[in-house]
Amino acid sequence: MRHKEIRVDAFAKLTLSLRVLGTRADGYHEIDALTASVSEPYDSIVVALSDGVEVRVVVDGPFAGEVPGGESNLAARAARLLRPDGGVVINLHKRIPPGGGLGGGSADAAAVLVGLKTLTGVDLDDEGLAALGATLGSDVPFCVRGGGAYMRGRGEVLEPVSVPSIPVLVATPPFGLSTPAVYRAWDELGGPRSERAVESPPALAQVAGALVNDLEPAAEHVEPRLRGFRESVESAAGRPALLAGSGSSVAVLFEHHTDAAHAYTRVGGVVRGHVWVGGTTPSGVVLA
Ligand code: C5P
Repeated sequence: MRHKEIRVDAFAKLTLSLRVLGTRADGYHEIDALTASVSEPYDSIVVALSDGVEVRVVVDGPFAGEVPGGESNLAARAARLLRPDGGVVINLHKRIPPGGGLGGGSADAAAVLVGLKTLTGVDLDDEGLAALGATLGSDVPFCVRGGGAYMRGRGEVLEPVSVPSIPVLVATPPFGLSTPAVYRAWDELGGPRSERAVESPPALAQVAGALVNDLEPAAEHVEPRLRGFRESVESAAGRPALLAGSGSSVAVLFEHHTDAAHAYTRVGGVVRGHVWVGGTTPSGVVLA
Protein backbone atom coordinates (compact mmCIF):
# COMPACT_ATOMS: atom_id res chain seq x y z
CA MET A 1 0.00 0.00 0.00
CA ARG A 2 1.35 3.43 -0.94
CA HIS A 3 1.27 6.16 1.65
CA LYS A 4 2.38 9.36 0.00
CA GLU A 5 3.97 10.42 -3.23
CA ILE A 6 5.56 13.48 -4.77
CA ARG A 7 6.45 14.48 -8.34
CA VAL A 8 9.85 16.01 -9.01
CA ASP A 9 11.31 17.34 -12.26
CA ALA A 10 15.07 16.89 -12.66
CA PHE A 11 16.79 19.22 -15.12
CA ALA A 12 19.84 18.45 -17.24
CA LYS A 13 23.16 19.91 -16.19
CA LEU A 14 25.02 21.78 -18.92
CA THR A 15 28.75 22.41 -18.72
CA LEU A 16 29.14 25.87 -20.26
CA SER A 17 32.95 25.83 -19.99
CA LEU A 18 35.34 23.18 -18.63
CA ARG A 19 39.02 23.21 -17.85
CA VAL A 20 40.69 19.99 -16.70
CA LEU A 21 43.50 21.04 -14.37
CA GLY A 22 45.19 17.66 -13.88
CA THR A 23 44.96 14.15 -12.50
CA ARG A 24 44.53 13.35 -8.79
CA ALA A 25 45.88 10.65 -6.53
CA ASP A 26 42.36 9.17 -6.20
CA GLY A 27 42.09 8.62 -9.98
CA TYR A 28 39.69 11.50 -10.57
CA HIS A 29 40.57 14.69 -12.42
CA GLU A 30 40.70 18.15 -10.93
CA ILE A 31 38.31 20.37 -12.87
CA ASP A 32 37.11 23.96 -13.04
CA ALA A 33 33.75 23.98 -14.79
CA LEU A 34 31.16 26.71 -15.24
CA THR A 35 27.89 24.80 -15.11
CA ALA A 36 24.21 25.66 -15.41
CA SER A 37 20.91 23.83 -15.06
CA VAL A 38 18.90 23.88 -18.28
CA SER A 39 15.14 23.53 -18.71
CA GLU A 40 15.40 20.92 -21.53
CA PRO A 41 15.79 18.01 -21.47
CA TYR A 42 14.47 17.05 -18.05
CA ASP A 43 13.39 13.82 -16.37
CA SER A 44 10.11 13.52 -14.44
CA ILE A 45 10.11 11.41 -11.34
CA VAL A 46 7.37 10.29 -8.96
CA VAL A 47 8.71 9.15 -5.61
CA ALA A 48 6.37 7.22 -3.33
CA LEU A 49 6.71 5.64 0.09
CA SER A 50 5.54 2.05 0.27
CA ASP A 51 5.39 -0.86 2.69
CA GLY A 52 8.13 -3.45 2.48
CA VAL A 53 11.90 -3.35 2.17
CA GLU A 54 12.24 -2.94 -1.56
CA VAL A 55 13.41 0.12 -3.51
CA ARG A 56 11.63 -0.27 -6.82
CA VAL A 57 12.53 1.78 -9.91
CA VAL A 58 10.17 1.66 -12.89
CA VAL A 59 11.50 3.45 -15.98
CA ASP A 60 9.57 4.64 -19.03
CA GLY A 61 10.08 7.36 -21.66
CA PRO A 62 12.30 7.61 -24.76
CA PHE A 63 15.48 6.34 -23.06
CA ALA A 64 13.91 3.72 -20.79
CA GLY A 65 15.75 0.90 -22.54
CA GLU A 66 19.16 2.45 -21.81
CA VAL A 67 19.03 2.70 -18.02
CA PRO A 68 18.82 -0.07 -15.46
CA GLY A 69 15.70 -0.48 -13.37
CA GLY A 70 15.96 -1.82 -9.86
CA GLU A 71 18.53 -1.29 -7.16
CA SER A 72 21.50 -0.55 -9.45
CA ASN A 73 19.88 2.63 -10.78
CA LEU A 74 21.47 5.73 -9.23
CA ALA A 75 17.98 6.88 -8.20
CA ALA A 76 17.55 3.70 -6.13
CA ARG A 77 20.96 4.16 -4.54
CA ALA A 78 19.96 7.74 -3.64
CA ALA A 79 16.77 6.42 -2.04
CA ARG A 80 18.76 3.90 0.05
CA LEU A 81 20.84 6.75 1.48
CA LEU A 82 17.74 8.33 3.05
CA ARG A 83 15.72 5.11 3.55
CA PRO A 84 18.26 2.32 4.24
CA ASP A 85 15.41 -0.04 5.09
CA GLY A 86 13.71 0.55 1.75
CA GLY A 87 10.00 1.07 1.18
CA VAL A 88 10.30 3.37 -1.84
CA VAL A 89 8.82 3.21 -5.34
CA ILE A 90 10.33 5.47 -8.01
CA ASN A 91 8.65 6.02 -11.37
CA LEU A 92 11.19 7.58 -13.71
CA HIS A 93 10.19 9.14 -17.03
CA LYS A 94 13.59 9.23 -18.75
CA ARG A 95 14.03 12.06 -21.24
CA ILE A 96 17.69 12.96 -20.53
CA PRO A 97 19.84 10.71 -22.75
CA PRO A 98 22.22 8.44 -20.81
CA GLY A 99 25.83 8.83 -21.97
CA GLY A 100 24.97 12.30 -23.23
CA GLY A 101 27.13 14.30 -20.82
CA LEU A 102 24.06 16.03 -19.36
CA GLY A 103 24.22 14.54 -15.87
CA GLY A 104 20.90 12.72 -16.18
CA GLY A 105 21.66 9.98 -13.65
CA SER A 106 22.93 12.59 -11.18
CA ALA A 107 19.83 14.72 -11.75
CA ASP A 108 17.60 11.71 -10.99
CA ALA A 109 19.57 10.95 -7.81
CA ALA A 110 19.28 14.59 -6.71
CA ALA A 111 15.54 14.58 -7.42
CA VAL A 112 15.04 11.45 -5.30
CA LEU A 113 17.03 12.98 -2.43
CA VAL A 114 14.99 16.20 -2.55
CA GLY A 115 11.69 14.34 -3.04
CA LEU A 116 12.30 11.88 -0.21
CA LYS A 117 13.47 14.64 2.09
CA THR A 118 10.14 16.39 1.49
CA LEU A 119 8.11 13.19 1.91
CA THR A 120 9.82 12.01 5.08
CA GLY A 121 10.62 15.38 6.67
CA VAL A 122 14.20 14.27 7.35
CA ASP A 123 16.21 17.09 8.91
CA LEU A 124 18.82 17.88 6.25
CA ASP A 125 19.47 21.18 4.48
CA ASP A 126 20.66 21.43 0.85
CA GLU A 127 24.26 21.30 1.99
CA GLY A 128 23.65 18.04 3.88
CA LEU A 129 21.80 16.58 0.89
CA ALA A 130 24.60 17.66 -1.45
CA ALA A 131 27.23 16.03 0.79
CA LEU A 132 25.20 12.80 0.82
CA GLY A 133 24.82 13.04 -2.95
CA ALA A 134 28.59 13.40 -3.44
CA THR A 135 28.97 9.79 -2.27
CA LEU A 136 26.94 8.74 -5.35
CA GLY A 137 28.75 10.81 -7.97
CA SER A 138 30.70 14.01 -8.57
CA ASP A 139 27.78 15.79 -10.25
CA VAL A 140 25.04 15.05 -7.70
CA PRO A 141 25.82 18.01 -5.38
CA PHE A 142 25.45 20.42 -8.31
CA CYS A 143 22.16 18.82 -9.32
CA VAL A 144 20.79 19.16 -5.76
CA ARG A 145 21.54 22.89 -5.74
CA GLY A 146 21.21 23.66 -9.46
CA GLY A 147 21.21 27.10 -11.05
CA GLY A 148 24.73 28.22 -11.89
CA ALA A 149 28.01 27.29 -10.25
CA TYR A 150 31.68 26.75 -10.75
CA MET A 151 32.30 23.06 -10.08
CA ARG A 152 35.76 22.42 -8.71
CA GLY A 153 37.63 19.53 -7.11
CA ARG A 154 36.26 16.43 -8.85
CA GLY A 155 33.07 18.43 -9.35
CA GLU A 156 31.66 18.32 -5.84
CA VAL A 157 33.09 21.67 -4.64
CA LEU A 158 30.61 24.35 -5.68
CA GLU A 159 30.90 28.11 -5.95
CA PRO A 160 27.46 29.47 -6.85
CA VAL A 161 27.43 32.01 -9.66
CA SER A 162 24.52 33.93 -11.05
CA VAL A 163 23.97 32.71 -14.61
CA PRO A 164 21.44 34.87 -16.48
CA SER A 165 18.63 33.34 -18.50
CA ILE A 166 20.17 32.23 -21.82
CA PRO A 167 18.42 30.38 -24.66
CA VAL A 168 20.12 27.02 -25.26
CA LEU A 169 19.85 24.35 -27.95
CA VAL A 170 21.02 20.89 -26.90
CA ALA A 171 21.64 18.17 -29.50
CA THR A 172 22.51 14.56 -28.67
CA PRO A 173 23.75 12.16 -31.36
CA PRO A 174 22.43 8.60 -31.57
CA PHE A 175 25.51 7.35 -29.70
CA GLY A 176 26.66 8.00 -26.14
CA LEU A 177 30.08 8.37 -24.55
CA SER A 178 31.47 6.87 -21.37
CA THR A 179 32.82 9.52 -18.98
CA PRO A 180 35.66 7.30 -17.66
CA ALA A 181 36.70 6.48 -21.26
CA VAL A 182 36.87 10.18 -22.17
CA TYR A 183 38.94 11.05 -19.08
CA ARG A 184 41.24 8.08 -19.86
CA ALA A 185 41.72 9.40 -23.39
CA TRP A 186 42.52 12.84 -21.97
CA ASP A 187 45.31 11.17 -19.96
CA GLU A 188 46.55 9.16 -22.93
CA LEU A 189 46.64 12.26 -25.15
CA GLY A 190 48.89 13.95 -22.56
CA GLY A 191 46.29 16.21 -20.96
CA PRO A 192 45.42 18.52 -23.88
CA ARG A 193 44.00 22.00 -23.34
CA SER A 194 41.34 22.70 -25.91
CA GLU A 195 42.32 25.47 -28.31
CA ARG A 196 38.75 25.93 -29.57
CA ALA A 197 37.04 28.78 -27.75
CA VAL A 198 33.44 29.83 -28.35
CA GLU A 199 32.45 33.43 -27.67
CA SER A 200 29.81 33.62 -24.95
CA PRO A 201 26.54 35.45 -25.61
CA PRO A 202 26.49 39.07 -24.33
CA ALA A 203 24.32 38.14 -21.31
CA LEU A 204 27.06 35.80 -20.08
CA ALA A 205 30.02 38.07 -20.89
CA GLN A 206 30.34 39.27 -17.28
CA VAL A 207 30.65 35.68 -16.06
CA ALA A 208 32.85 34.26 -18.82
CA GLY A 209 34.15 35.80 -22.06
CA ALA A 210 35.16 32.66 -23.90
CA LEU A 211 33.85 29.13 -23.41
CA VAL A 212 36.02 26.05 -23.86
CA ASN A 213 35.85 22.34 -23.10
CA ASP A 214 39.19 20.57 -22.49
CA LEU A 215 37.45 17.21 -22.91
CA GLU A 216 36.52 17.97 -26.51
CA PRO A 217 39.73 16.61 -28.14
CA ALA A 218 39.56 13.50 -25.94
CA ALA A 219 35.86 12.89 -26.68
CA GLU A 220 36.42 13.36 -30.44
CA HIS A 221 39.32 10.90 -30.18
CA VAL A 222 37.17 8.28 -28.43
CA GLU A 223 34.26 8.76 -30.83
CA PRO A 224 35.37 10.06 -34.26
CA ARG A 225 31.74 10.54 -35.40
CA LEU A 226 31.35 13.29 -32.80
CA ARG A 227 33.17 15.93 -34.83
CA GLY A 228 30.95 15.46 -37.87
CA PHE A 229 27.87 15.61 -35.64
CA ARG A 230 29.06 18.84 -34.02
CA GLU A 231 29.84 20.40 -37.39
CA SER A 232 26.41 19.57 -38.81
CA VAL A 233 24.76 21.11 -35.72
CA GLU A 234 26.94 24.21 -36.16
CA SER A 235 26.19 24.62 -39.83
CA ALA A 236 22.43 24.18 -39.31
CA ALA A 237 22.37 26.47 -36.25
CA GLY A 238 24.67 29.07 -37.83
CA ARG A 239 26.66 29.29 -34.60
CA PRO A 240 29.45 27.36 -32.89
CA ALA A 241 28.58 24.44 -30.62
CA LEU A 242 30.50 23.18 -27.61
CA LEU A 243 30.68 19.68 -26.19
CA ALA A 244 28.57 19.19 -23.03
CA GLY A 245 30.70 17.70 -20.24
CA SER A 246 32.34 14.52 -21.49
CA GLY A 247 29.80 14.26 -24.36
CA SER A 248 28.18 13.07 -26.44
CA SER A 249 25.76 16.06 -26.50
CA VAL A 250 26.68 19.45 -27.88
CA ALA A 251 25.09 22.79 -27.00
CA VAL A 252 24.63 26.10 -28.78
CA LEU A 253 23.94 29.29 -26.80
CA PHE A 254 21.84 32.12 -28.22
CA GLU A 255 21.04 35.73 -27.51
CA HIS A 256 17.34 35.55 -28.39
CA HIS A 257 14.76 32.79 -27.98
CA THR A 258 13.43 33.33 -31.52
CA ASP A 259 16.90 32.53 -32.95
CA ALA A 260 17.09 29.40 -30.80
CA ALA A 261 13.62 28.33 -31.96
CA HIS A 262 14.55 28.77 -35.65
CA ALA A 263 17.79 26.86 -35.11
CA TYR A 264 15.79 24.07 -33.43
CA THR A 265 13.76 23.60 -36.61
CA ARG A 266 16.83 23.64 -38.85
CA VAL A 267 19.00 21.39 -36.65
CA GLY A 268 16.10 18.97 -36.07
CA GLY A 269 15.69 18.69 -39.85
CA VAL A 270 19.27 17.64 -40.56
CA VAL A 271 20.80 15.73 -37.65
CA ARG A 272 20.04 12.23 -36.45
CA GLY A 273 19.53 12.08 -32.71
CA HIS A 274 17.62 14.29 -30.31
CA VAL A 275 17.34 18.07 -30.23
CA TRP A 276 15.85 20.30 -27.54
CA VAL A 277 15.52 24.03 -27.09
CA GLY A 278 15.20 25.61 -23.67
CA GLY A 279 17.24 27.86 -21.47
CA THR A 280 19.35 28.12 -18.37
CA THR A 281 17.17 27.82 -15.29
CA PRO A 282 17.66 28.66 -11.60
CA SER A 283 17.07 25.18 -10.11
CA GLY A 284 18.29 21.64 -10.70
CA VAL A 285 15.23 20.04 -9.14
CA VAL A 286 11.66 21.34 -8.94
CA LEU A 287 8.86 19.85 -6.85
CA ALA A 288 5.77 19.71 -9.07
O1 C5P B 1 31.93 10.82 -9.98
P1 C5P B 1 31.39 9.94 -11.03
O2 C5P B 1 31.08 8.55 -10.55
O3 C5P B 1 30.26 10.53 -11.79
O4 C5P B 1 32.55 9.78 -12.11
C1 C5P B 1 32.53 8.77 -13.08
C2 C5P B 1 33.93 8.56 -13.62
O5 C5P B 1 34.35 9.70 -14.39
C3 C5P B 1 35.00 8.41 -12.57
O6 C5P B 1 35.10 7.08 -12.16
C4 C5P B 1 36.23 8.87 -13.30
O7 C5P B 1 36.73 7.85 -14.16
C5 C5P B 1 35.71 9.98 -14.18
N1 C5P B 1 35.85 11.33 -13.56
C6 C5P B 1 37.11 11.88 -13.46
N2 C5P B 1 37.24 13.13 -12.90
C7 C5P B 1 36.16 13.83 -12.50
C8 C5P B 1 34.86 13.26 -12.60
C9 C5P B 1 34.75 12.01 -13.15
O8 C5P B 1 38.13 11.27 -13.83
N3 C5P B 1 36.32 15.05 -12.01
